[in-house]
Amino acid sequence: MVSHDIIVVGAGLAGMRAAIEAAKNGGNVAIVSKVHPVRSHSVAAQGGINAALASNDSWETHAFDTVKGSDYLGDQGAIEIMCKEAPDDIFELDSMGCLFSRDEAGNISQRPFGGADFPRTCYAADRTGHALLHTLYEQLMRQGIAIYEEWFVVFLSVEDGICRGMIAMDIHTGKLHRLHSKAVILCTGGYGRVYKNSTNALINTGDGMGLALQSGAQLMDMEFVQFHPTTLKSTGILISEGARGEGAYLVNSKGERFMKRYAPKAMELASRDVVSRAEQQEIEDGSGVDGCVFLDLRHLGESLIDERLPQIRQLSIDFEGIDLVKDIVPIKPGAHYSMGGIKTDVRGATNIKGLYAAGECACVSVHGANRLGGNSLLDTIVFGRRAGYAASQYAKETTLAEFPENALRDTAQGIAVIINRANGEKTADLRDELAYVMSRYVGVFRDKNRLDTALAEIMKLKARYENISVEDKGDIFNTELISALELGHLMTIAECIVLSAINRRESRGAHYRLDFLLRDDANWLKHTLLSKDGDGIKLSYKEVAITKYKPMERNY
Ligand code: FUM
Repeated sequence: MVSHDIIVVGAGLAGMRAAIEAAKNGGNVAIVSKVHPVRSHSVAAQGGINAALASNDSWETHAFDTVKGSDYLGDQGAIEIMCKEAPDDIFELDSMGCLFSRDEAGNISQRPFGGADFPRTCYAADRTGHALLHTLYEQLMRQGIAIYEEWFVVFLSVEDGICRGMIAMDIHTGKLHRLHSKAVILCTGGYGRVYKNSTNALINTGDGMGLALQSGAQLMDMEFVQFHPTTLKSTGILISEGARGEGAYLVNSKGERFMKRYAPKAMELASRDVVSRAEQQEIEDGSGVDGCVFLDLRHLGESLIDERLPQIRQLSIDFEGIDLVKDIVPIKPGAHYSMGGIKTDVRGATNIKGLYAAGECACVSVHGANRLGGNSLLDTIVFGRRAGYAASQYAKETTLAEFPENALRDTAQGIAVIINRANGEKTADLRDELAYVMSRYVGVFRDKNRLDTALAEIMKLKARYENISVEDKGDIFNTELISALELGHLMTIAECIVLSAINRRESRGAHYRLDFLLRDDANWLKHTLLSKDGDGIKLSYKEVAITKYKPMERNY
């Protein structure tokens, strides 16, 4: 049996940052990741990371923008921590060697982003995630942190409210291993693949959230799914908000900059929920083309585009056959980010002893009902660091709890049932059907009928999932089996999103109900909590933490 003080699951920005901090604090740390670390989805982050660096900006303004962006659902104490600690984290990344873009004076460049009153998004052209992830990977290597790469966590071991480690499959061999630890930090990212049109990598299947719920942790605010306003027509690939930050326009089929009717002040730089809704409205009103509106960058000129937005130019050429220097690009809203996730405090602690979470799989909550662009990378760094520290402190003060004897055998038996089943349901079919249901009924616009239909369909799919089988019966790199296991988590996530969305009878941030058009602070200024209840899921509610930003009407 392998044993470490702290095991981090997931090697994206939150996972790497957590591991680095835990190791710095003296812990014996390992990372388990289902892909090679630098293939984690953080590598695809484009536009940037927020911090109030300028002398005429302030963390308080950053905090206010974030609270307003969250439609007042974000916990304000947590938001204040994130915004206050942001500048030091950026300077630390800079000193580690992250290649941020620079202005003429040599300072870190910052660009405007949606919902922000100040240009405070630091960037590395439009490959910010790539620059950050490789910087942290160098630090991981430097510290000699153990990495179990291409290992898939199948089971989280929790008994008597204490986390004891996990069982993971080495994908190379198919062998199951017990990984024993004092603390586990889940940093497994989002679940965007529960939707058809998504900016997310194929690996984003909500594994950490599924494992956490299964083992008794609470999830929070799962109804809030962010639809990014600019994803490519044919593939859903992200076209960074950095484009609009640099001055790109959104136009409809008549060439009109339609945002003037939805957000006259901020226009294309309103918050994402507002812009995505505006686009969807235009499309549904017949002012789109083929399910899309257009992004127009032509007036920015080739040299600015090549300097600051080279990746999205290449992506548009490769995947849409359009050079955005010369032509407008068809775009549409696509599933991008999960505001909800595993409920944690500001140290990353969950309701289970020894179990921590950080990054997109967690819900602190700093994003509330709608996240601002550039705050996700910041969340990974600030709360990854905090969770790494807290978990390593906990590990110092605790002894290794016993690993349950039967866990390995029971997990192996569960997997054998899938492998040995002769003619069952196919993972690819169920994954497709689930994504179709979520995209059709749980999108930018929601109402009771659509949500009830979605829930009924998900329950049917869940029943069929009980009969899942795989054609590949082998041990080595059985990606069909991994995909089947991931699908189990996607089913759970879909059910959580829809149950929470049905119950929240108001519109707030990214959760927009056509049958309850207004935000209702009197009844719904509260977080949704989800926990396992036998075979089902139980909902409860919790107050939002308000410090100094009283809820106000939200206009852009
Ligand atoms: O549009 C973007 O570059 C995405 C940024 C984010 O989600 O924070």
